[in-house]
This record gives sequence, structure tokens and C-alpha cells, in this order.
Amino acid sequence: GRKFFVGGNWKCNGTTDQVDKIVKVLNDGKITATNVEVVVSPPYVFLPTVKASLRPEIQVAAQNCWVKKGGAFTGEVSAEMLVNLGIPWVILGHSERRALLGESNEFVGDKVAYALAQGLKVIACVGETLEQREAGSTMDVVAAQTKAIADKITDWSNVVIAYEPVWAIGTGKVATPAQAQEVHANLRDWLKTKVSPEVAETTRIIYGGSVTGASANELAAQPDVDGFLVGGASLKPEFIDIINAAS
Ligand code: 13P
Repeated sequence: GRKFFVGGNWKCNGTTDQVDKIVKVLNDGKITATNVEVVVSPPYVFLPTVKASLRPEIQVAAQNCWVKKGGAFTGEVSAEMLVNLGIPWVILGHSERRALLGESNEFVGDKVAYALAQGLKVIACVGETLEQREAGSTMDVVAAQTKAIADKITDWSNVVIAYEPVWAIGTGKVATPAQAQEVHANLRDWLKTKVSPEVAETTRIIYGGSVTGASANELAAQPDVDGFLVGGASLKPEFIDIINAAS
């Protein structure tokens, strides 16, 4: 089976005091789930301290990295730097970066390939907007985003796919378990036919978008939902409840 995966994306939030508090909640929280991989993603500036102060069973991820080797790219952080700091994971292709910073499918595919080649593990985000869903193009959009990654990589063993419908992110409008399951199953089917049955069977597809302690259990029970990528609720004690929804 696929090991359940819970990621906490802190986005561009936190002061040093707030970060200390979140780390304390995570370190003191009672994790009852036995087979779950937990990764939290603070802003770059907090990564080294969070990594050093977190309980060892919780890993860290960066929220982004540059598309190629470092150099004259002011303001960017390279995959090599993350590796140098012992940061194992990176989130790539988050919808906020796609929408606000103009990251194209192809650019995200290049980033995923480069990060994997440097030895990082990648949480690759895909998902449709409300307009695209209402136009009936959800699967076309998600397939195109995934294809742009599949075109650039062959080894999927260090990739987790996060399905995050844009209309569910930060809106309080969580996808229903049936909506999430439908897209996850279609995406797994896409992987089966376009990549390989083995990659389809082993790759974790996690759901993100307004996940809370209250919605996590029913979503986690869906056969193709292999975990979560949590935004707002990952900054609160209920993140522990979401971890414990692991099934
Ligand atoms: P929210 O959980 O705040 O909706 O954010 C989801 C998300 O974008 C995680 O990457």
C-alpha cells in the first residue's frame, strides 16, 4: 500500500514567535497514526531553525526552488542549496505560483525534473479553477499539468502529486469526498495509461484545499486519497487531528 502523506504548507506566514509556537504544537502533539509520513513547509527563512527544532519524525519541505543551477538569479533559492541544508522535500507548481507568478506547466515540469535530479523529493501540485471545472475541463487541465511533468521525468518514486482544486484553496469550500475521489481516480488512471501501471499504483495522490480536522476523516477514507496538503489548518493544533486521520 501507499504510505499516507500529510503535508503542511505554511505559505507566506509566520513570525519567529509564531513559528516557535507551531513547532511546539507539532512536537507536543500526540500522533496516534502509525503509518504516516508528515512534512511541513515553512517559508525559506525559517527552514533551518524549524528543521533543527522539530521532532525527528516530521520532515521539512521548501515551498519552491529555482528551475536550474544557481547563479545570477536574484531572489531565487536553488535546489542545490536545499540539498546542502539537508532539506529533503520541495513543493513545486503550487497554484498560487502558477496564478500569481506566471509559472507555466512546462516551467513546473522543468523545475520538478531539476529538483529530482539534485536529489530532492517533490510535492507537485495540480488543480483546476472554478471556471475550468464549470466548463467541464477539470480532467483536461489536470492531465495537461501532469503531462508536462511526465514529459520531463522517468522516475516517479520521489514524487507525490497534490491535487488542489483552486476553488477549494483558502475558501472554506472543501471538495466533497466524492469530488476528490473522482479526480484522484481519473488521475491514477491517466498515470496508468500514460506512464505505467506500477507508477499509477505506487504514486501517492494527496488532496489539498480547505482540509480541516472535521473533513479529514471522510476524505482519507476514499481509496485514491493518499493524504493531504494542508494550508490554513497546518498552522493550528488541528493539524495533529489531520495527521491522525491517516488511513
Ligand atoms: P488551504 O488548506 O488553506 O485551503 O490551502 C491549501 C493549499 O493551498 C495547500 O498547499
